[in-house]
Amino acid sequence: MKVFFASVVLTALAVPAADGPRLKDLMPPGLLIGAALSGAQVDGRDAAAQAVVVRHFDTISPENLLKWTSTEPEPGRFTFEAADRYVAFGQANGMAVIGHNLVWHQQTPRWAFEGKDGRPLDRETALARLRAHITAVAGRYKGRIHGWDVVNEAFENDGSWRQTPWFKAIGPDYIAQAFTFAHEADPQAELYYNDFDLYLPAKRKAVLALVGDLRAKGVRIDAVGEQGHWSLQAPKAAEIEAILDDIAGAGVKAMITELDVDVLPRTPEMEHADAARKAEWLKTTNLYPAGLPDAQQEQLARRYAEVFGLLLKHRSQLTRVTFWGVTDAQSWLNGFPIPGRTNYPLLWDRQARGKPALQAVIDVLKAAPAR
Ligand code: G3I
Repeated sequence: MKVFFASVVLTALAVPAADGPRLKDLMPPGLLIGAALSGAQVDGRDAAAQAVVVRHFDTISPENLLKWTSTEPEPGRFTFEAADRYVAFGQANGMAVIGHNLVWHQQTPRWAFEGKDGRPLDRETALARLRAHITAVAGRYKGRIHGWDVVNEAFENDGSWRQTPWFKAIGPDYIAQAFTFAHEADPQAELYYNDFDLYLPAKRKAVLALVGDLRAKGVRIDAVGEQGHWSLQAPKAAEIEAILDDIAGAGVKAMITELDVDVLPRTPEMEHADAARKAEWLKTTNLYPAGLPDAQQEQLARRYAEVFGLLLKHRSQLTRVTFWGVTDAQSWLNGFPIPGRTNYPLLWDRQARGKPALQAVIDVLKAAPAR
């Protein structure tokens, strides 16, 4: 009885048929669509999600496989096995393979930030480490990576410089240096700056000032990625439009690089709270442990329809839209900002079945003006 009820509800909510349209066929020309992959999706242990990827996407990003901790855990000891499989998978399937990322303050091994003899990291050592890492990683995949997230998340939400170990050791020109090293390692690869919450005017202004600075110096930068870690309500449509208009106004392309829609309550305090407080929030905010109710499922579908309507409206400014994961099971939002929650931010459910939100995106793409 329960099974029958569930299937009626899902049909009513228009879950797409497994042999229905493919997202990549519905996208306007020049606008790639993709997802971030786990190692299991690349090597086929997560076969159901892998089938979704091959069917629907023409670009892929590595969720964690190309980060510094994955590729150079110890100085000069490179571990490329998983990254090699990722790049080969994309190439075998004719996809634009994205590199993520070369410079970040997270998922970078401790040694990279340690100074010599217990002293703080100095500029020369930091630059030498950056250059060696970027040259080795971007150089290995020369000609095979479509574009690199060169620097990730260099600004705070108020537009001030994030005080990362790279910034503190080198100063603001660490960004121009990193882009230059990346360009030297792979002159054909597109180069991107990637950050979140660019709907905040002060942060956006700082990022676009950086873009202007790089361009004035003749340093290659092709696009700015707004990650797109959004919620059901925020940012508002006008804020999303401002992101795309302003990036294009700075003379580069825009990309949505890590799209997902958080359906659970989130406050800024949650992120830095201690474990005990997080455990309390787990009890009060893990609202849908047994499945997303129809009303929220519809809300998610409407939000995705809104987002894709806006992206299509601005398609001349955009080159890529990438989801941060394939299925809800994989999403980082099951662990952030409160570990152990059950979240539903993507277009495919935990069994890799298309959700009503997928159908909503398909409907919006189908209704787009002729290309
Ligand atoms: O690999 C270990 C595993 O051995 C261990 O058992 C497990 C226990 O927690 O941790 C595993 O590592 C985790 C790793 O993901 C791989 O699953 C790390 O703890 C966890 O912190 C890490 O999270 C990643 C996060 O970046 C790190 O900041 C997420 O998967 C990844 O989705 C997320 O992606 C970032 C983008 O790169 C940049 N923009 C924001 C986005 C979301 O945070």
